[in-house]
Amino acid sequence: MPHALVTGANRGLGLEFTRQLLARGERVVATCRQPGRAMALLRLAGEHPGHLAVLPLALPDPRSIAELSREVTALDIRIGLLVNNAGMLVGGERFGTIESKSLRESFATNAEGAFLLAQALAPRFADGAKVVNLSSRLGSIAATDSLHSPSYAISKAALNMATRLLAIALAGRATVIAVSPGWVKTDMGGAAAPREPADAVASVLRVVDALEPSRSGSFLDEQGLLQPW
Ligand SMILES: NC(=O)c1ccc[n+]([C@@H]2O[C@H](COP(=O)([O-])OP(=O)(O)OC[C@H]3O[C@@H](n4cnc5c(N)ncnc54)[C@H](OP(=O)(O)O)[C@@H]3O)[C@@H](O)[C@H]2O)c1
Repeated sequence: MPHALVTGANRGLGLEFTRQLLARGERVVATCRQPGRAMALLRLAGEHPGHLAVLPLALPDPRSIAELSREVTALDIRIGLLVNNAGMLVGGERFGTIESKSLRESFATNAEGAFLLAQALAPRFADGAKVVNLSSRLGSIAATDSLHSPSYAISKAALNMATRLLAIALAGRATVIAVSPGWVKTDMGGAAAPREPADAVASVLRVVDALEPSRSGSFLDEQGLLQPW
């Protein structure tokens, strides 16, 4: 049975993806930087014996990606769904004081990490696999009219391009989309966000379930509507 692989699964949307995928009977590989400290995931593993593997992954570290690929191969896992969910946002950026470190780390986690992971795991994809890159409205060049979180916005625009390129590279093997989950109450989204993780993830999974290969390479919102690049 193909597995879903979710990155950044120890909290926020990644944890919720893992919870909902397990609840509907799927087998899940949940990755996080520190599995030993991922108490919510370890609890889920206990509640779903044999259905959840919790493995380490720090993005975009090539050794960590290679180690995960080796482990997936050793466990003979085929991946039906890759959720490139792990992401970071540097808060409080103001033009004039934006630092190279913020730009580099945001790109490395949000764009480079997702691209390299999809590339590394591609040989393990099951027929008809789906790759879902968690993007953001802030990554839409066409929709941008304010200087909001530039390191994040630039990295998510890069992730959108990575989505397009992966769709081309994996044509006939996997359907690849970028999806914006909306503004969601998590550590990143903050307490003022209007949506609960459970609602946002349920919406995104409906989009993923209905996804046709003809939509590969597109940027969608959580309702499945095309977003401007
Ligand atoms: N929440 C929103 O409103 C919103 C809106 C649009 C898009 N999104 C996107 O949705 C995704 C999930 O967001 P969220 O709100 O759940 O964020 P979150 O609560 O801040 O969780 C981020 C997750 O990513 C992991 N992560 C960060 N950097 C990593 C790295 N270098 N290597 C591996 N894992 C790393 C974190 O792990 P640690 O615990 O180890 O830090 C954590 O598991 C992100 O891609 C985000 O950009 C969110």
